[in-house]
Amino acid sequence: MAVQCSQYIPAVVLLVLAIVGILLVVLPTEEMKQPPQNMYGIVLDAGSSHTSVYIYKWPADKQNDTGIVTQHDECHVKGGGISSYAGIRGGAAKSLEACLEQAVKVIPKSRHHQTPLCLGATAGMRLLNIVNGTESQRILKEVENKLKSYPFQFKEAVILSGQAEGAYGWVTVNYLLENFVKFGFVGQWLNPGRETIGALDLGGASTQITFETSEKVENESNVMELKLYGQIYRLYTQSFLCYGQDQFLRKLLAHLIKTQGVKPQVFHPCYPQQFNVSVRLGQDVFDSVCTKDYRPAQFDPHMTVTVVGTGDYRSCLDSVMQMFSFGSCPYSKCSFDGVFQPSLRGSFMAFSAFYFTHSYITRLTSKTITSPDEMAEAVQLICNMTMDEMVEKAKQPERYMKNVCAVSNFVQVLLIQGYHFDEVSLRSISFQKKAGGASVGWALGYMLSLSNLVPAESLGLMKALPSGPWAGILFLFVALLVIGLGYLLMIYRNTRTKEDMV
Ligand SMILES: *[C@@H]1O[C@H](CO)[C@@H](O)[C@H](O)[C@H]1NC(C)=O
Ligand SMILES: *[C@@H]1O[C@H](CO)[C@@H](O)[C@H](O)[C@H]1NC(C)=O
Ligand SMILES: *[C@@H]1O[C@H](CO)[C@@H](O)[C@H](O)[C@H]1NC(C)=O
Repeated sequence: MAVQCSQYIPAVVLLVLAIVGILLVVLPTEEMKQPPQNMYGIVLDAGSSHTSVYIYKWPADKQNDTGIVTQHDECHVKGGGISSYAGIRGGAAKSLEACLEQAVKVIPKSRHHQTPLCLGATAGMRLLNIVNGTESQRILKEVENKLKSYPFQFKEAVILSGQAEGAYGWVTVNYLLENFVKFGFVGQWLNPGRETIGALDLGGASTQITFETSEKVENESNVMELKLYGQIYRLYTQSFLCYGQDQFLRKLLAHLIKTQGVKPQVFHPCYPQQFNVSVRLGQDVFDSVCTKDYRPAQFDPHMTVTVVGTGDYRSCLDSVMQMFSFGSCPYSKCSFDGVFQPSLRGSFMAFSAFYFTHSYITRLTSKTITSPDEMAEAVQLICNMTMDEMVEKAKQPERYMKNVCAVSNFVQVLLIQGYHFDEVSLRSISFQKKAGGASVGWALGYMLSLSNLVPAESLGLMKALPSGPWAGILFLFVALLVIGLGYLLMIYRNTRTKEDMV
């Protein structure tokens, strides 16, 4: 009996080996689609009106030094932007705590120390830096110390230049549209060789236009060269400070007060008829670098003025036009305010406040905007609406609706007269808030550039196997299984015949 048992051992070993082999080859195939180890990165987008925290992730195995980054989570900081805490010690740092705590929770603990963390401040801090450089540096330092107190890998807390902001927005847009690389059908990354698209960003304190150009850029400060996935891209980029929607509205109000004189009542052609609000001359109007040129020689900053709406499209459009300078151009061609701009090229994506304004226009008028004339018609319809009509149609509170006519006119003038979008090119703008599950803005582009700094990890052998050898190995183990079974059957038969003979 003992002799017979020992005969089975090699066969059983063979079978176990074959089964284990097959399992090893087959089981990790799921992981081929979803790499097991993610890396994470955190970007704080410190805008003029608020701060947003974006958490990105990408597989630890990267392609050509730029990670395949997707959005993992986002968090919106309560309260104003970090620049609004000027003169309030500790305020800016404290405001970020809740969102940083959330980041600690949603990123696996084992990855914390490898997670890059950076903060980019934009036009709000650029403006504060002009007024009070020591205060803006103090806020940055305070925020930096707060970020360093978390278990992440702190990289930087800086004020981004307007050019960098524009370029990172462009990177985001083209990255999300897979214009740089595409995941191929057979499972590798390809360069699709597509035209890139331009980026239009409208923030609270500045607005950016960025697109690829082959024309000569006559002002050096408008050129940005980027190397991505081994390719060099040459961009035209321009950021207009004080042309973000909040600062623009402030300038418009300052302009109206200046032209009508400082009186208890000021008429606003862009507010709906009958609608009125009270504003304080200092805090709400003239306490900004952007309204400096409109400041009366003498005024009481605590004085309140009632702004009364007249809902007059023509007059609103005229006032908005007066905020731009279309006159002198020191270059062969300009957008406005004497700023060089080459000819528009390709399609564009417009995001942030451009998206919201476009969505209000289409919601309020049920019109699609494909030409400058249609845009003017839609904006006129909006400026003729009463506040009640707007609130009812858009299902949004008054505070969002009171500026829709003014901002729509602003966007109209900026795109058509400012950037020179026409019948054909206006149609090429797509207005978007999100793409591919990620918010469209400069933050992802910034992260993408920073992710170069994260060391790549090598892949497990199984996942690295192309499908040819993989099938070969599977076949080998299946063959082993069949041989093992055959061997077992043979031994069984042999012992049976021996037993029968006994
Ligand atoms: C800058 O801000 C700090 C703190 O609020 C203040 O003490 C200082 O006087 C300001 N400097 C200027 C030039 O306004
Ligand atoms: C990665 O780089 C190699 C060589 O630098 C290049 O041949 C390949 O096309 C690049 N891949 C992508 C996805 O850009
Ligand atoms: C301002 O609005 C209130 C109602 O919100 C209205 O009673 C008042 O008459 C308005 N004032 C002007 C000057 O239109």
